[in-house]
Amino acid sequence: MKMRNAALLFLVLFHPRLSTEWPTHTVCKENNLEIYYKSCDPVQDFALSIDNCANILKNNFNFRAAVILRHSITELFLNLSLSINGRRLLSYSEKLCDPKSRRFFFCGKKKGEHIYYEGPVSLGIQEIPKGKYTVSMKLYNGDHLTIACANFTIKNT
Ligand SMILES: *[C@@H]1O[C@H](CO)[C@@H](O)[C@H](O)[C@H]1NC(C)=O
Ligand SMILES: *[C@@H]1O[C@H](CO)[C@@H](O)[C@H](O)[C@H]1NC(C)=O
Repeated sequence: MKMRNAALLFLVLFHPRLSTEWPTHTVCKENNLEIYYKSCDPVQDFALSIDNCANILKNNFNFRAAVILRHSITELFLNLSLSINGRRLLSYSEKLCDPKSRRFFFCGKKKGEHIYYEGPVSLGIQEIPKGKYTVSMKLYNGDHLTIACANFTIKNT
């Protein structure tokens, strides 16, 4: 299982670009919960997987993500926005990396380096209410260059 997932990540990362739009990747498709994402960075796709989606609401789930940096991330910012059934509900911004405080292992990585994260994540929520959600995520550096960008679609029926 582990090997298969790792192989999948690298397939996604190094897949040659065949069309003008990135494919929609399925993270999860279980009884009532579906999660898809699509890169909104015109020049790069990225890879993400979750073990056993049904665990997403339990305390911890195992998460993997991989990206190749096209720009350095001495400074890194995150923008997230959440829409429910088409209505923008909230936006969130946070500075993740700063030259003075390297909060995460990937802070300070240079152009051309790979970032591969594997480990447990906790969302800290008990329940995802029914509905269709869109989460737009953008990571960009201090020069406003896009590091990764993705739109997630979450359907809970
Ligand atoms: C991603 O979402 C944003 C805002 O919701 C939208 O403007 C953009 O067209 C979407 N991009 C893709 C590739 O789906
Ligand atoms: C990120 O969010 C902030 C605050 O909402 C906004 O001012 C900024 O333009 C956003 N940046 C990008 C690259 O979307």
